[in-house]
Amino acid sequence: MLKKYLSEKKEIVEGNLQKKLQKYEYPDELAEGMEYAVMNGGKRIRPILMYMICDLFGKEYEAVEDVAVALEFIHCYSLVHDDLPAMDDDMYRRGKLTTHVKYGEAPAILVGDVLLTEAFNVISNSDKISDKSKVEIILKLSKYAGFYGMVGGQFVDIKSENQIIEKSEKGVAEARKTLSYIHQHKTGKLLTAAIELPLIALGIEGEKKKKLIEYSELIGIAFQIKDDILDIEGDFLETGKESNDEENHKMTYPSLYGLEKSKEMLSEYLKKANEIIEKYFDGNELFVELTDYFGNRKK
Ligand code: IPE
Ligand code: IPE
Ligand code: MG
Ligand code: MG
Ligand code: MG
Repeated sequence: MLKKYLSEKKEIVEGNLQKKLQKYEYPDELAEGMEYAVMNGGKRIRPILMYMICDLFGKEYEAVEDVAVALEFIHCYSLVHDDLPAMDDDMYRRGKLTTHVKYGEAPAILVGDVLLTEAFNVISNSDKISDKSKVEIILKLSKYAGFYGMVGGQFVDIKSENQIIEKSEKGVAEARKTLSYIHQHKTGKLLTAAIELPLIALGIEGEKKKKLIEYSELIGIAFQIKDDILDIEGDFLETGKESNDEENHKMTYPSLYGLEKSKEMLSEYLKKANEIIEKYFDGNELFVELTDYFGNRKK
């Protein structure tokens, strides 16, 4: 059921992304770079989550269409900048050359900048959401993408490279706290955005909203733990990325806890996430399958 759902929704999302990208004209090389960075085989998990929220509440997709494009723009920008030589220095993304390897560093920086900026333009310009919802969506998205969100997490991630961790109990506890901050922010916050923004667009309030945000925080950490595990165990043909966390001396779950313990922690987070779905959403089949997929995914 999930597999079919993911592939159907991916097609819708990519159609909408393409439609927005087609509008950019001169400078055409900038438009080409944007398209290269976005239309390159991502899983589209964040926009698809927005569609799943609509289905969970039996609502039409229209209200989330533009917000889904905007969030994927921001996610793609984060990847382009994450891969830069000054950051993780990666050569491949989604099985293709990274944007800076393909076009050069300055164009890649600007492709990232423009995707971030245009994301807010897409929302502001949307005729599918009320003005009141737009303001709240922009407020939340800027928070989840910025200082208190993904950028904050990326900053601490970079600052935590090559750290020598004190072997004392206190030293280890501090490192684990930092790692948890990194994962909650660099990855978790955009996943919370994927769940909270559609709830705003659809005007859903109350306990269900609170529980779904809690769910998003659990799958957010889990998503990055799995990403760390795939950096070690993943196959390039699936992930489209070369592993380099160890080479970059990154602070990751496997580096701090070991691979086996990381896998246990991943299962624990996902178990808690599914308990929310069981208890508050009648065990919604698609969400239960999605939660399991976050543990089993190969890419
Ligand atoms: C990769 O995200 C970066 C992380 C935040 C872990 P995804 O695993 O969603 O990457 P794509 O979009 O499918 O390429
Ligand atoms: C980065 O985490 C998450 C982002 C905010 C881009 P990683 O650096 O581990 O992501 P990958 O492995 O390069 O996709
Ligand atoms: Mg990184
Ligand atoms: Mg990286
Ligand atoms: Mg990674």
